Amino acid sequence: MVSRYRPVTKTITHYAANACLLPICQLHGAAITTVEGIGSTKTRVHPVQERIAKAHGSQCGFCTPGMVMSMYALLRNTPQPSMDDIAEALAGNLCRCTGYRPIIDGCRTFCQEANCCQESGVTNCCINGENGNSDEAEYVSPQLFDKDQFQPLDPTQELIFPPELIPLTFQGERMTWVSPGSMDQLVQLRSRHPGAPLVMGNTNIGPDIKFKGIIHPLIISPTRVTELFETTQTPEVHSYRVWVGAGSSLSEVRTLLENLVPQYPPEKTELFRALIKQLGNLGSQQIRNVASLGGNIVSAYPNSDLNPVLAAGRCKLSVVSSGGKREVPLNQDFFVNFGKTILKPHEIVVSVFIPFTRKGEFVGAFRQAPRKESSFATVTTGMRVFFSEGSRVVQDISIYYGGMGPTTVSAVKTCAAIVTRQWDDETLGRAYEVLLEELVLPPSAPGGKVEFRRSLTLSLLFKFNLEVLHKLRHMVRPFSFIFSGMEKKKIIISQTPLPQSVSQEQNSQDPVGRPIMHRSALSQATGEAVYCDDLPRTDGELFLALVTSSRAHAKIIQLDVSEALKVPGVVDVITAKDIPGRKVRTMCGYDEELLAGSEVSCIGQMVCGVVADTRAHAKRGAAAVKISYEDLPEPIFTIEEAIEKSSFFEPRRRIERGNVTEAFKSVDQIYEGEHRMGGQEHFYMETQSMLVVPVGEEREFNIYVSTQWPAATQEAVAQTLGIPSNRVTCHVKRMGGAFGGKVTKTSILASVTSVAVTNRPVRCILERGEDMLITGGRHPVVGKYKVGFMNDGRIIAADIQFYTNAGNTIDESVLVIEKILLHMDNAYNIPHLRGSGAACRTNLPSNTAFRGFGVPQSLMFVENMITDVSMVLGLPADKIREINMYRGPSVTHYKYQFNPENLLRCWDQCKAKSTFSSRRTAVDQFNQQNQWKKRGMSIIPIKYGIAFGEGFLNQAAALVHIYKDGSVLVTHGGTEMGQGIHTKVQQVASRELHIPTSKVYISETGTNTVPNTCPSAASFGTDANGMAVKNACQTLYQRLEPIRKKNPKGLWETAFFEKISLSATGFHRGPDLYMDWEAMEGQPYAYFTYGACFSEVELDCLSGDYRTLRTDIVVDIGRSVNPSVDIGQVEGAFMQGLGLYTLEELKFSPSGLLYTRGPSQYKIPAVCDVPLSFNVYLLPDSYNPHAIYSSKVREPVVFLGSSVFYAIKDAVAAARSQSGLAGPFPLDSPATADKACLASASHFTQKVRVGGSVGRWAGLWVGL
Ligand SMILES: Cc1cc2nc3c(=O)[nH]c(=O)nc-3n(C[C@H](O)[C@H](O)[C@H](O)COP(=O)(O)OP(=O)(O)OC[C@H]3O[C@@H](n4cnc5c(N)ncnc54)[C@H](O)[C@@H]3O)c2cc1C
Ligand code: FES
Repeated sequence: MVSRYRPVTKTITHYAANACLLPICQLHGAAITTVEGIGSTKTRVHPVQERIAKAHGSQCGFCTPGMVMSMYALLRNTPQPSMDDIAEALAGNLCRCTGYRPIIDGCRTFCQEANCCQESGVTNCCINGENGNSDEAEYVSPQLFDKDQFQPLDPTQELIFPPELIPLTFQGERMTWVSPGSMDQLVQLRSRHPGAPLVMGNTNIGPDIKFKGIIHPLIISPTRVTELFETTQTPEVHSYRVWVGAGSSLSEVRTLLENLVPQYPPEKTELFRALIKQLGNLGSQQIRNVASLGGNIVSAYPNSDLNPVLAAGRCKLSVVSSGGKREVPLNQDFFVNFGKTILKPHEIVVSVFIPFTRKGEFVGAFRQAPRKESSFATVTTGMRVFFSEGSRVVQDISIYYGGMGPTTVSAVKTCAAIVTRQWDDETLGRAYEVLLEELVLPPSAPGGKVEFRRSLTLSLLFKFNLEVLHKLRHMVRPFSFIFSGMEKKKIIISQTPLPQSVSQEQNSQDPVGRPIMHRSALSQATGEAVYCDDLPRTDGELFLALVTSSRAHAKIIQLDVSEALKVPGVVDVITAKDIPGRKVRTMCGYDEELLAGSEVSCIGQMVCGVVADTRAHAKRGAAAVKISYEDLPEPIFTIEEAIEKSSFFEPRRRIERGNVTEAFKSVDQIYEGEHRMGGQEHFYMETQSMLVVPVGEEREFNIYVSTQWPAATQEAVAQTLGIPSNRVTCHVKRMGGAFGGKVTKTSILASVTSVAVTNRPVRCILERGEDMLITGGRHPVVGKYKVGFMNDGRIIAADIQFYTNAGNTIDESVLVIEKILLHMDNAYNIPHLRGSGAACRTNLPSNTAFRGFGVPQSLMFVENMITDVSMVLGLPADKIREINMYRGPSVTHYKYQFNPENLLRCWDQCKAKSTFSSRRTAVDQFNQQNQWKKRGMSIIPIKYGIAFGEGFLNQAAALVHIYKDGSVLVTHGGTEMGQGIHTKVQQVASRELHIPTSKVYISETGTNTVPNTCPSAASFGTDANGMAVKNACQTLYQRLEPIRKKNPKGLWETAFFEKISLSATGFHRGPDLYMDWEAMEGQPYAYFTYGACFSEVELDCLSGDYRTLRTDIVVDIGRSVNPSVDIGQVEGAFMQGLGLYTLEELKFSPSGLLYTRGPSQYKIPAVCDVPLSFNVYLLPDSYNPHAIYSSKVREPVVFLGSSVFYAIKDAVAAARSQSGLAGPFPLDSPATADKACLASASHFTQKVRVGGSVGRWAGLWVGL
């Protein structure tokens, strides 16, 4: 949090900001408060830290300090915030683990307003379910957290602003930072250095420096020039006017305008209100708190949200330079090119004139963005129309768009077609035609989505038309009825239903089954938790920066490192030749080079690494490495290209039950379809991180690393260095998320880092962009299916072909294909079922394991097929699902016997909890009454196999020490990545040793304590490691039995003196699973877990924006060991699935370069995407004999995010049927706004489609 004294207003302001965008020099004179500064576990935990932690809002904890500080900054300004305030404060913070609900739950305890019926004093609370009755009267139902235990918030105890802070100039290695104290000094500096940027919020200049390596030798920081922050108002009767200081932050501008609006008649403040609307959605609060008004205008982003509105509203600028002052109108001449305006380089914008509007003048502002908040707009617009008094004849009009070219553009011809005419359907109809011709984008326009953007220009003008009609009081229908903007919905009312319960007979000390807080939550919330890059720098430590290929398929002709070695601080450059041991990692029979030798096969492949004394020097060195290439012919990027060229990793897999070919002959109908599903980036908050420390003797190394599989990292490093494994110890304290991305890729990166180690430690921490470029993600899939069914909905036969885009190396791609085929039945008993799968070898970065491991892709095709069948037959999709669901004792297509009872129970309970049939009626009714908004709903089941198909991986070990003071140190093979494994294991040890959890400590996962571990993956970590710990604890407990009888008090010391070992290992030998692909049968899973999910969405058919109104999940996780951890994981997995199916889109250039390499291009779900009502229920009375304490895992929930996809598809179908379109239609995943909008086939999208083309490489954007 930044706190500043504002000399103009003589006040202290506090605001949250993004640390990565704040130059240290800019903070001169400011007080900075960090998460460590507001509370500590050693002194006093701040109420915000406490509440987020205790409400289970911290899983891996990497995002928690950011969440805490955003909330803290809000409370400093607004001690009793509303839910809207909280939503806005957290809108710019991302979390990949929790699904946001528990964070919001913790924060909402600061609100005064009632948030659910319970707090409004109703006896039967909504969080108890529909009727508030618990099915399990004999059980005690714990709340997820107890609010009564929270400390109160006392604003008088907060840190004060240090009064001694005053202003100066900073000299860096390559940059000088000058902060002039007056306007005169600023003008002089600017005229002497016209090329030097003025850094205000640094939100434009900062990313250029950070990500593009742009160096500005001089930076001018005018934050002390008071004139830039002055606002003047002249409220004379005939010339109301406001001049706003150009240095004002966007948040300050918004507050100013919000204060002015109520002071004047509405007709005067049309422009103010349009600007407020845009400012509410522009960036995030952290950005708006620092970004300046002048900076936004002068940055001249093509999709600036303010410029179209300011220009349409006839604003102007007051600028000053050594040549004097002048006024510059913000009109179509102002924007010259991308990032360029007509201002001269030495001119400074002092203030911005924002006029009041006149009677009969209306201003509108609209935007559509890939994500509702914290996202640049795809298309944004400002429109103004002025009518002669008492008439509907347009006297003046201006229309500006952002996102339709390299600059903000004015639709001059369209305006000309409207001015002097009546505002009616005829005029507007002609305007749409002119607009279509006026704003044309070439098929390969930067940003893509050409068809969608063009249709948005029309539909946004249509929205303005509706607003104007409303204002003119000539509405055809009531305003709320026809207006189709996706207005901001009231903030999240998600509720936590009561978790599963523990038996009243259970000992109150026994923690199993209780919602125990994540054991590191408080350390995470106070910033004390240590992640890999938090380890203090050791003496002489070096940093490794990687150099990656810029060609997709080429020979390396020359690798010139001479310039890199000249960069100050650079110590060495490592190449493949420097690897002393094995130069490759072998997976499934294929070798993968650690560093490319003579050839590269994708952009982003590691070629060499630069080792230097600091990260900055290593990066400069890496930029100085010159590689010359000779391109090899015809790189392969898409699945289609790979199929055409038979470019596959072997083996390909096939499975069949029954006789599919014969069965197709006897069905009533056959339908053939295709579906395409994009990949997904892990986007763990902590990027790949490692520190390799030489011990100094006998070639021994300690590796501190963020990995899911320490043993594989140990083995890989040992092989790379050509030393035995006993010289390498891997330590994993915790990970800031992993999701499968830190299984295989980390061992390769750690191996490369170890090569850089001579006698000094080497650290390698990937930046977000590098991580996204190098490490791959979830496999994109293209699938074709043929389905045969009867007219009553029974599916008799299906044949599905799956192709994944594996990338340039095999990694685990064949295993992913196998899992895809094993899950292709999902919950359905299809008597004749055939599947084939192939992993395509392409020249894109290699894809790898990702939560669900192929299942989220596989099931998508089955469910899409079922949806198509329902559309062909005109029957509800849920009925087709029910007709075909497994019932009674069942056998899968690989001859695995199981009982689907819990699947059917999840399904029935989900239907009941969501009040499915009454909601269907309500949705249909809504759709009949609304033309441009449609609602859709879906319910989706899942059956998911647990454990590794490779039988040998189903094992785990543990080591438990008891010390003489009775404290217990547990070590096991599982790694903590936010999923709460250590918390659950602590509960296990506590139960088995009959001691409180506070006595049990888990320090880390280390290969020196528990060797030969398996990855914490396949949803099996707690199952297996919990069992191993249980085994060790039981050994100890039995060993101590005689002493316990003799002396229960001095148990541990007595045992020591009686020479009884207080240390034991534990082992869990999991089931012997297998799959015989020749015989097409096997036992690849230990058990199935089940779930069902209902979702309802509201879609704005004009823009494709949607909002999830409600989600109900019923999931079978057996008897949960820790319901709060499990519910948190279920919600987090659901949100990750929602991202996968509706939001997250990978885009590649035609030459195979990943474009989406950071949060500004790649959108994961944020707070604004959480369903407005979000309910998770754990299936009661489910016992699982195969896992610890009858629990089950909850990993499968990722797929349930697809319920939102199918709800969107349902809404699109409703829109299409209004246009007379019936039957199946394609909608690829992710169903982003553009796809949903275009599929809705509105009047406007159809206009654009005539002659429209999206260009050859549009398909590449999703990495297919
Ligand atoms: C994560 C993120 C999300 C964003 N989302 C949006 C969005 O949704 N919509 C949107 O419109 N924008 C968005 N932006 C852009 C943001 O609004 C602009 O970067 C910001 O307004 C620029 O202001 P600044 O003070 O930070 O500029 P700085 O980076 O400090 O400066 C930018 C440029 O403006 C010049 N400049 C600054 N002040 C003056 C002045 N008084 N006179 C002359 N020249 C000046 C500087 O010389 C420099 O060239 C986003 C930015 C980020 C980082
Ligand atoms: S807890 Fe939020 S990213 Fe892990």
